Amino acid sequence: MNILVTGGAGYIGSHTCVELLNAGEQVIVLDNFSNAKPEALNRVINITGQQMITIEGDIRDAALLETIFSQHNIDAVLHFAGLKAVGESTMDPLNYYDNNVNGSLCLLRAMQKHGVKTLIFSSSATVYGDPDSVPIFESSPLRATNPYGQTKLVIELMCQHWVESNSEVSVTLLRYFNPVGAHDSGTLGEDPQGVPSNLMPFIAQVAVGKRKSLSIFGDDYDTPDGTGVRDYIHVVDLAQGHVAALKQRNEQAGCHVFNLGTGQGVSVLEMVTEFSKVTGQDIPYQIAARRPGDIAQCYASSQRARLELDWSSKRELQQMIADTWHWQRLNPDGYV
Ligand code: NAD
Ligand code: WQD
Repeated sequence: MNILVTGGAGYIGSHTCVELLNAGEQVIVLDNFSNAKPEALNRVINITGQQMITIEGDIRDAALLETIFSQHNIDAVLHFAGLKAVGESTMDPLNYYDNNVNGSLCLLRAMQKHGVKTLIFSSSATVYGDPDSVPIFESSPLRATNPYGQTKLVIELMCQHWVESNSEVSVTLLRYFNPVGAHDSGTLGEDPQGVPSNLMPFIAQVAVGKRKSLSIFGDDYDTPDGTGVRDYIHVVDLAQGHVAALKQRNEQAGCHVFNLGTGQGVSVLEMVTEFSKVTGQDIPYQIAARRPGDIAQCYASSQRARLELDWSSKRELQQMIADTWHWQRLNPDGYV
């Protein structure tokens, strides 16, 4: 199949390109490189030994989409392109609505015009906001608490309405929990710009000596050790979840929703302790105030994906850490 991968140079998109190429698919990446480097795509080609088509451009560029859909016989779209920083979204919400919502609208319009019926969309556990209970099921209440999360909810709704209006369309909404880790070659990984806001890349930068110590945001949550609990999932498992979704849901009309997580909660302190154990590195930390907007705990029920996609995560926490560390040591400054 010819697969258009928007945001394919990014962290999750690039790992998914590897899995798609390994599965024998033809890949066409569309990325504006606003949060990625072309080098990531060279690494994908090196890992797989396969070629793919790269197009530099924006999903909001309707003329460009027209050219892409006219020139390539696209069978399905995997839509990763978007902005993802929660804090930034509260400071510049209009940019988030423009990039994420307007961008997705442009994409769906082009798909509709060209009769492309299969879409897999990168949604997020952030659509559940502060959950009433854990594990979180796909049927749990949806209530995003920041502009970024709200853009994901609006896009989900737009997809739902699109499906209702067209009985041939197949949309799969994948709600990712906390993606971490890197490709086991050590050549592909997460390359945050500036100070990482997520836990795993921050710890990795402390371990490699780029930052002095980790601030643990709160130790008074209602969790076993007082620190926040999350469902960390290896990015390669996540990438393989997309291939499974494509296989199971391609051209199966309807709107399909899946959590992609491990179903296991891990606290910040557990992560720090395990990171030290796996890597042999000391991770200095201090307890700091809670981060505004953070929740106590969040982890998935991964049952639906297991039953309906025949997919479940395979890589344990130790592997997530070992692969993060391998990538961080080999690429201390990312894709320079
Ligand atoms: P990323 O920033 O590494 O990748 C996104 C890619 O999209 C980048 O390569 C960027 O250059 C590109 N892009 C952004 N806006 C674009 C536009 N208008 N046109 C073309 N390209 C554009 O992020 P990621 O971590 O790989 O996340 C991928 C998707 O998964 C995003 O939609 C994100 O919201 C979602 N998601 C991420 C996480 C996470 O923690 N990483 C969790 C849940 C959901
Ligand atoms: C994990 C835990 C922090 C950094 C965010 C987005 C979410 C999704 C994934 C896209 C929490 C603690 C963190 C640090 C810390 N993205 N922490 N010190 O907050 O679950 O989710 O990224 O959809 O939308 O909100 O992930 O990695 O930032 O935090 O103590 O320096 O680590 O308080 O308990 P989070 P995270």
